[in-house]
Amino acid sequence: MKRPRVLSGVQPTGKMHVGNYLGALKNFVELQNSGKYECFFMIADYHSITEDYDPETKPQQIIDLALDFLALGLDPKKSIIFLQSQVPQHLELAWIFSTLTPVSELVRMTQYKDKAARQEKNINAGLFTYPVLQAVDILIYRPQFVPVGQDQLQHLELANDIAKKFNRRFGETFQAIKPLLTPAARVMGLLDPAKKMSKSEPEGCLFLTDEPEELAKKLKKAVTDTAPTGPEKTPGVANLFDLLDHFGTKDHIERFHQLYKNRTIKYAELKGLLADRVADHFAEFRQRRKALAGKPETIKQILAAGSNAAKKIAIRTLAEVKQKIGLAL
Ligand code: TYM
Repeated sequence: MKRPRVLSGVQPTGKMHVGNYLGALKNFVELQNSGKYECFFMIADYHSITEDYDPETKPQQIIDLALDFLALGLDPKKSIIFLQSQVPQHLELAWIFSTLTPVSELVRMTQYKDKAARQEKNINAGLFTYPVLQAVDILIYRPQFVPVGQDQLQHLELANDIAKKFNRRFGETFQAIKPLLTPAARVMGLLDPAKKMSKSEPEGCLFLTDEPEELAKKLKKAVTDTAPTGPEKTPGVANLFDLLDHFGTKDHIERFHQLYKNRTIKYAELKGLLADRVADHFAEFRQRRKALAGKPETIKQILAAGSNAAKKIAIRTLAEVKQKIGLAL
């Protein structure tokens, strides 16, 4: 029997952080290792050029993300790991999908609004049509499930809308996709816990490659309250407890919840423990990553092989679509 298909993507825009990990990457590895799914994991390089970037450093950012994937445990023998720009069929289908997407839907996208506010001088058309390309990334492989963090849900809804619209107009072609969220689908920034953890705020962001001292320094500065005020935790404190849920042992979790309840918690102690736990959790990752970093040619070969496998499927979907919309002579 055919296994259900899973697909997701990550932009190569810099270092991976604990938000990416808990919201998505950890889940990628678990889904892959469960053996129950046919998995596709994509490096979304075409998406990444909608932000300000330097063409000199982009190749390294792509390699870096592939290193993160592999060092975290994604395995090219078990998953198709590929590079978006090596499957040009995405761009052809993106044009077709863009003719089915109302501008009014794109204007509503919160990620577009956030990014447009952040990069006022570079509000390019690609940033605007970004969710159309993301719909293609997904639908072209006809997966059932898409593991992502919460910030991507609106994009997945749009992908489902585009699929429905296509089916209504041209006949049943694309099935609905379901997001797979983790319990930490929205990790918040350490310095501004009203905003999601993001590399655009590096001081409040725990990178997976951060050395232990760096992690400790950043966690020390994390915003908390001066003392617990009631059962309702402030956003900064709630975020630290969320991290504890993922990186602490059962005993740690129980102890700190009790200390919070008794109002005798010392946040410095919680932060110190978290720094140690996060550093330990990624120690093996950091080592594996360093070892792999010396082999960029191997990384390139893995991406080329994955992209070739992905391309075979993309070509088939595109041919079917062109036939259905009346562009296949
Ligand atoms: P990107 O590269 O911004 O992030 C990669 C994944 O990490 C999740 N994430 C978070 N989860 C929890 N807390 C956070 N603070 C946090 N920050 C990031 C994201 O939700 C995402 O799952 N548009 C996508 C890339 C993409 C894609 C796709 C995803 C392109 N094509 C097709 C799925 C399917 C993006 O920018 O993710």
